[in-house]
Amino acid sequence: MATIAPFLHPCTPASRDGEPLLPVSDARSLTPLVDGRNVRYANLDYAASAPALDAVTRQLEAVLPYYASVHRGAGYASQVSTALYERSREVVGEFVGARSDDVVVITRNTTDSLNLLATAVPSDQGDVVVLDVEHHANLLPWRRGGCRVVPLRSTIAATLAALEAAVASSPTALVAVTGCSNVTGELLPLARLVEIAHRHGARIVVDGAQLVPHRRVDIAALGIDYLALSGHKLYAPHGAGALVGRRDWLDAAPAYLAGGGAVREVTADHVEWAAAPQRHEGGSPNVLGAVALATACETLALVPEGELLAHEAELAGLLRDGLAGVPGVSIVRIWDDSEESVGVVTFTVDGHDAGRAAAYLSAEHGIGVRDGRFCAHPLVARLGHAAGAVRASLGVGSRRDDVERLVDALHTLVRDGETWTYALDGGRWAPSPDPRRAPALPALGITLGGALPASPCEGD
Ligand SMILES: Cc1ncc(COP(=O)(O)O)c(C=O)c1O
Repeated sequence: MATIAPFLHPCTPASRDGEPLLPVSDARSLTPLVDGRNVRYANLDYAASAPALDAVTRQLEAVLPYYASVHRGAGYASQVSTALYERSREVVGEFVGARSDDVVVITRNTTDSLNLLATAVPSDQGDVVVLDVEHHANLLPWRRGGCRVVPLRSTIAATLAALEAAVASSPTALVAVTGCSNVTGELLPLARLVEIAHRHGARIVVDGAQLVPHRRVDIAALGIDYLALSGHKLYAPHGAGALVGRRDWLDAAPAYLAGGGAVREVTADHVEWAAAPQRHEGGSPNVLGAVALATACETLALVPEGELLAHEAELAGLLRDGLAGVPGVSIVRIWDDSEESVGVVTFTVDGHDAGRAAAYLSAEHGIGVRDGRFCAHPLVARLGHAAGAVRASLGVGSRRDDVERLVDALHTLVRDGETWTYALDGGRWAPSPDPRRAPALPALGITLGGALPASPCEGD
């Protein structure tokens, strides 16, 4: 079978001041307001799930006619799909700087990747050590084995010292750490963390869910052993993620998803499992998700890093400065000495419930933000915001106008209050009444509001 051409799509980063850097799927979407108007949707919720890059959407349209079974079919479309799936794996690995002998397992998302790795940590090599800053996805999977949670300190320097003391105090197989807080956007110094883990004979896994969409990560250069990421936070919301990293643990681990495709040979009483990655990818793989993820990686790789950083720095600066100027708004921060953060900003508004403020921003201004405890309950409680906070987050489709609308809407809230009434509905604040209608879609009639189940996790 001929090799598949690269996924490249012509994409010119549109790095004009305050404009989107790359075109994304929600750029033209309108959102209804409770007063009957429709406005452009201001998406400030990239950290939860980012819109699809247009390049990803175009790629999937091009690929869909060739979509067929993977690894099993002799038909032309099957062979194209198989080649695309395997090429996607390579592209994802290249994007994060994988070593030539690393494995790229296509998973569902970061949660899936970390759960998979949790089954692969050798039980005779010690515990897993984590900080309590983590998203639940990087806390809970480790609890099934030996896991020690290190409470954060008020500075990064002191936090790393506490982490090192914990790693040194008893055998540690793995240090599991986020690259970037999903609550505050603050970055952790990965090179120093790698050094600490390796100095004490441990490996390190980085939860890249929030980091990879904002920063180039080169796991070989940094010495990171494993990296987990989610396609839906990387502009490819099509159900795929990845675990990238060292082969030995993944080859020795029990098959994560036993089934067809994960084996070499099966008899009535014996199974010869395949090596990783297939060992962990039982069942029909998510070809389109993998292609979407790889296309997003390739598209982002074409954008000069300086442009990515400049776009984010401009809008994040505007966001932080704007929020700081709203009376009663406080920006949440973990560490006194953190030097770098991405465009993810959590804040509280004095006298305003976070969930109600988020409902107001949506209903009266067409702005999408996240509220709650962000699936980081220990961290949010430690920071004193157990009642929840509001998070605004940016990405390559963000524009200055989104940020200005948020800041203006908060000034209005603080100065004049709400113009609509709100009520708790299944534990979540919602406009009451809510006259907004669901969009007319070609299939799958939906209703909004009370029909939706409340999230047990109050956000990602
Ligand atoms: C830092 C971090 N880690 C892990 C996750 C889990 O990602 P997913 O829901 O895609 O598995 C998230 C999701 O918000 C996150 O922000």
